[in-house]
Amino acid sequence: MSSIPDIRLNDGRTIPQLGFGVFQIAPRDTVRAVSEAFEAGYRHIDTAQMYGNEREVGEAVRASGLGRDGVFVTSKLSNASHRPDDARRAFDATLTALGFDAIDLFLIHWPLPTLYDGDFVSTWRVLEEFQRDGRARSIGVSNFQPAHLEWLAAETDTVPAVNQVEVHPYFPNDAVRAYGQEHGIVTEAWAPLAQGKVMADPAIAAIAARLGRSPSQVALRWHVQRSDVVFPKTSSPARMRENLDLFEFELGPDDMAALASLDQGPAGRIGPHPDSFDWVPD
Ligand SMILES: NC(=O)c1ccc[n+]([C@@H]2O[C@H](COP(=O)([O-])OP(=O)(O)OC[C@H]3O[C@@H](n4cnc5c(N)ncnc54)[C@H](OP(=O)(O)O)[C@@H]3O)[C@@H](O)[C@H]2O)c1
Repeated sequence: MSSIPDIRLNDGRTIPQLGFGVFQIAPRDTVRAVSEAFEAGYRHIDTAQMYGNEREVGEAVRASGLGRDGVFVTSKLSNASHRPDDARRAFDATLTALGFDAIDLFLIHWPLPTLYDGDFVSTWRVLEEFQRDGRARSIGVSNFQPAHLEWLAAETDTVPAVNQVEVHPYFPNDAVRAYGQEHGIVTEAWAPLAQGKVMADPAIAAIAARLGRSPSQVALRWHVQRSDVVFPKTSSPARMRENLDLFEFELGPDDMAALASLDQGPAGRIGPHPDSFDWVPD
């Protein structure tokens, strides 16, 4: 098995560059899927309060025998819990569900600038509390645009360790990534396979055929060479292994350029725009 590089965060900790995402894995399937991911060699799991499967992630960690420090787990604050007291309660519930004393990384899932009077700064201050009291080893954000990050920088003392945003060949999100690079914020690329769309791309298929790799491996290798953190989701153990096997080949400059040329601009975005997204679970 090829070994997964660690990426250093601005708080001195490290995160495995490749992980396993559990969005849209039903709770009843999560223990099995995460156990199979550990079996394949993943040691980094990306979940969220809104995915509804934190308890099952914790159960799979305990069943794995890897030990609490043998795995890196991220979760994210629900859109329903941005008010400081709600965020504190929700975070307690996350640790209880996972069965952990501390989580490796905790994120604000969406900035929700049109809700909560546009105030995600007081929410961020609560995440700073979790880091100070040691229950969140690292803290970060997700779906933050540069303007949102600028506001945090103006009002608070802690630069987010990561910003988890939509990134794939059709939507490389380079302005947000560049802001992160300038300010020491690691970019995590969500939907790294464009939720499966890259598999049908003729340009990616041609590179894959030439290199004797799969389209998924070519797309994921592109992310790795751009130094982003990725956590593709799959329910298939064979695909878990395929998506992990990225560290014994390289894309040359022409291949990197061919993938960059697939950029569709704003039309390439699959998910909602962070400036207007305002969905809150019941
Ligand atoms: N912060 C946020 O707002 C946010 C939003 C979305 C996602 N995320 C995170 O990012 C993770 C990944 O994103 P995602 O799940 O949306 O999409 P993704 O990883 O880009 O794509 C997942 C899709 O690709 C398919 N797939 C995976 N590997 C494959 C392979 N080797 N060959 C063929 N098909 C393959 C999967 O199908 P099968 O399952 O059938 O194999 C699934 O349909 C999530 O699980 C979550 O942790 C975060």
